[in-house]
Amino acid sequence: MNGGSLDVVGTGIRAVSQVTAEARRRIEAADLVLYATDPVTARWIERLNPRAESLDRLYAPGEPRRVTYERTVARILEAVRQGRRVCAAYYGHPGVFVYATHASLQLARAEGYPARMLPAVSASDCLFADLGVDPGHRGCQSHEATDFLSHHTVFDPAVPLILWQVGIIGDWGYGGRPNRTGRRMLLEKLFPAYGPGHEVILYQAAQFAGCPCLTARFPLHRLEAVPGDPYCTLCVPPTGVGRPDRGIAARLGLALPGE
Ligand SMILES: C[S@@+](CC[C@H](N)C(=O)[O-])C[C@H]1O[C@@H](n2cnc3c(N)ncnc32)[C@H](O)[C@@H]1O
Repeated sequence: MNGGSLDVVGTGIRAVSQVTAEARRRIEAADLVLYATDPVTARWIERLNPRAESLDRLYAPGEPRRVTYERTVARILEAVRQGRRVCAAYYGHPGVFVYATHASLQLARAEGYPARMLPAVSASDCLFADLGVDPGHRGCQSHEATDFLSHHTVFDPAVPLILWQVGIIGDWGYGGRPNRTGRRMLLEKLFPAYGPGHEVILYQAAQFAGCPCLTARFPLHRLEAVPGDPYCTLCVPPTGVGRPDRGIAARLGLALPGE
């Protein structure tokens, strides 16, 4: 083994201010930082460690995202195989909706290189804080919007539902075009469970310290018309109450409300 290693870190959602102390140390210590993050954090990384290289140049407009991701994995592994201590720094949590980080770690480990991921602040962490959703209360359902639509996903309307990438439904590239057809199909899937008037929230976490998050609250039937961008997430609050299993509660010795 030639001394190569891979650390995968996240830079959080809010530029620079959500980078953890341990992620910062990995960025500083790396022989090479390969980063895919917001422009403000990118400049900060370059100042922290001049041996930094943007992965943005590997992105090509109009190309399927998967092709870019494979190119990114190849670049990360190339540097590790050269014997460098590589730090890959990604926007948000590096393990949340980031194919390239998981694939790079798997490959690096399979080739015997030390490789690890550090946790970070994701968009859903910000959403929990800003919208007051507690996943410990009734649970939490979280899906990528296109995946949610294109599978027979079973979901429970009594549990909060988080849908990622609602701004790019059915888009395998980087077009960022609002896809009204996709939104209509999502509406059709949600409608029977929630009804037309159920309030949903299009959410955008603040990317800069001191800025508020953006929320658009509207009834479900308007979903098709509300503009969204690639950096927004849909939160569907629960409707009704979950059905308690009184038999199980009794076996656990628990008294449920109303008893
Ligand atoms: C490729 S994923 C990246 C997720 C990121 N790694 C994370 O930890 O949150 C992109 C999706 O994350 C969500 N997202 C990213 N930034 C966001 C923000 N500022 N506010 C709300 N959602 C965001 C959106 O659903 C967006 O379509």
